[in-house]
Amino acid sequence: MSDPVPAGTDARGAHRKAMGLAISAAVGGFLFGFDSSVINGAVEAIEGQFELDSSVTGLVVAVALLGCALGAWGAGRLADRWGRIRIMVLGSGLFLVSSILSAIAWSALDLSIWRFMAGVGIGIASVIAPAYIAEIAPATIRGTLGSMQQLAITVGIFAALLSDQLLAEAAGGAANELWLGWEAWRWMFMVGVVPAIVYGVLALRMPESPRFLVARGRVDEARSVLDSVLGPEENVGDRIDDIQRSIAMDEKNAEQGSLRGNGFLGLKSIVWVGILLAVFQQFVGINVIFYYSTTLWQAVGFDESQAFLVSTITAVTNIAVTFIAIALIDKVGRRPLLLIGSAGMAVSLLAMAAVFTQGTTTVDAATGESTLSLGDPWATIALIGANAFVVFFGATWGPLMWVMLGEMFPNRIRAAALGLAAAVNWIANFTITLTFPPMLSNLGPAVPYGLYGTFAALSFFFVLWKVDETKGKELEDMTEDVRHR
Ligand code: GLC
Repeated sequence: MSDPVPAGTDARGAHRKAMGLAISAAVGGFLFGFDSSVINGAVEAIEGQFELDSSVTGLVVAVALLGCALGAWGAGRLADRWGRIRIMVLGSGLFLVSSILSAIAWSALDLSIWRFMAGVGIGIASVIAPAYIAEIAPATIRGTLGSMQQLAITVGIFAALLSDQLLAEAAGGAANELWLGWEAWRWMFMVGVVPAIVYGVLALRMPESPRFLVARGRVDEARSVLDSVLGPEENVGDRIDDIQRSIAMDEKNAEQGSLRGNGFLGLKSIVWVGILLAVFQQFVGINVIFYYSTTLWQAVGFDESQAFLVSTITAVTNIAVTFIAIALIDKVGRRPLLLIGSAGMAVSLLAMAAVFTQGTTTVDAATGESTLSLGDPWATIALIGANAFVVFFGATWGPLMWVMLGEMFPNRIRAAALGLAAAVNWIANFTITLTFPPMLSNLGPAVPYGLYGTFAALSFFFVLWKVDETKGKELEDMTEDVRHR
């Protein structure tokens, strides 16, 4: 069965259309980056305004990550029932409402509730963008299109940093000062309203995922979506047949439509591969660099006023290196990039850990706070190590984990398995974020960085032995077999 190529469809036009849809879906990634980082510039002012104990502040910050886990898990389940687009609209609504309510919060308790709600939105966005992009993308450029999500996340992180800084400056230099009648920290949350509206409007204009449409028996609609995104070299009729076959095959065996299988703890082994990719991506400690950068940069010799500059450089580096993945992912494949990333991260993290054993720690008698200082050449090596780590992460594991979670599962379990793995990614993020400060103050910085470096080294062997190449494969050819290599 073959369909004639519709008049006017050329490969470049189709790829442009697919790219446009990927970028629209990736606005969810922008909100993911923006909403998870915006609190950084506001946190001190909030602590002051609501007279919080630092452990309560930590909780106000971390509660969003738990919301993320819930949102990711729920989005995976609901995406198969309601479709991908409705879930995006739900996410945009949650971002919109939580931004406004966080801005007008009157206590730590209600702020925590709105931050949790923002977290649910972030979790939803973290699942639905990779799933949607993988499902509309032609297989040959799926990696590039999927990497748009991480590009948008890194731009979102940078935008939050910049917007927080500009608002604090507008208010006279501090987030607790007034600007246009409101403390600057309130405006910081309010800014999130704009991308939330953009996301909702774009989502309402996007077509539903063809894989979801076929699963719902809406084959004609699926055909017209595929017609617009696949070039003339691809046969839409055959694609539809393959999707129908993969879904029908799964339906014959009820077991195949669920995450349950013969793997560890009764889960399918491919689900475990997804979960472990998600855990390793966080256990290398990337967010410690983003959430606690000041501690690191001060040890290296920058004072607090220079910390903003250094954080800006790191955030921009993080954006720039995503283009390495965008350029290479569909050419060299996923496995080589992940392996290079693991090796590079392991070396840079372990070098940082070694360097940190050379510092001297001074304890402030009044506050009990300890500060580490490094002399030369250790400070320079630590600085290079930290930036090399961000480069290796941002060019490999950062984008690749999200791309792979979007594409590696068979059609019937994609959304649910991705939702579960993404939820685990958020829980791992929460664990690292919460355990870093006590580890740092009780054991010194060499221990956490040594631990993250060890996880990076382990991730190398995990990829080597358990992760299959997905480059160029059709989604319909993804199976549950995990080959030993
Ligand atoms: C990835 C991670 C996220 C991290 C970001 C940094 O998207 O999943 O946790 O903040 O990279 O660029």
